[in-house]
Amino acid sequence: MVRPLIPEADLARRVREIGEAITRDYAGRDLVIVSVLKGSFVFTADLVRAIEVPLRVEFFGVRSYGHRTESSGEVQITLDLAHPITGEDVLVVEDIVDTGLTLTYLLEQLRARGPRSVRVCALLHKPARCVRPVDIDYLGFTIDDVFVVGYGLDHAERYRNLPYVGVLGDGPEAAAR
Ligand code: IMP
Repeated sequence: MVRPLIPEADLARRVREIGEAITRDYAGRDLVIVSVLKGSFVFTADLVRAIEVPLRVEFFGVRSYGHRTESSGEVQITLDLAHPITGEDVLVVEDIVDTGLTLTYLLEQLRARGPRSVRVCALLHKPARCVRPVDIDYLGFTIDDVFVVGYGLDHAERYRNLPYVGVLGDGPEAAAR
């Protein structure tokens, strides 16, 4: 059972607002969007269409280990960037920042490649579970400590196609801000 948490219209409105902010902040510059697979593919597809500066899209595939057992912070790269990002303005697009371990690892990897700047855009943040605090420059929604699916997010590879974000199971009441 999936209980709706963030309806499609709220997602669309927030994506539009974030796109406008990114367009303002990067005016006159070119942008490299690094979309973190798999979870952020839907968010990325909507977000890039709300950004009006010239950009290219790169995909970075990672698999987190121990996330649901022990937070080891071990992350495996499943797909590397196809092109260098040296001297580029990079915007990492993440689906959700939970413990922050994946993003911390990812930022280390990207910064080692000599970009001009690196910023982070995340659709969702679950601050209750934070282990490694990370600065999120553009954030969609802050949510309670619940497991969410839809709009690219999965449980065992299912539910990514839901057009809204919902809470899986019969957990406690949750809110998004
Ligand atoms: P972190 O390393 O704990 O911040 O985990 C980040 C990754 O875990 C995300 O990119 C998601 O792939 C996955 N994840 C964390 N929380 C959820 C959730 O509520 N639903 C679906 N995936 C999640």
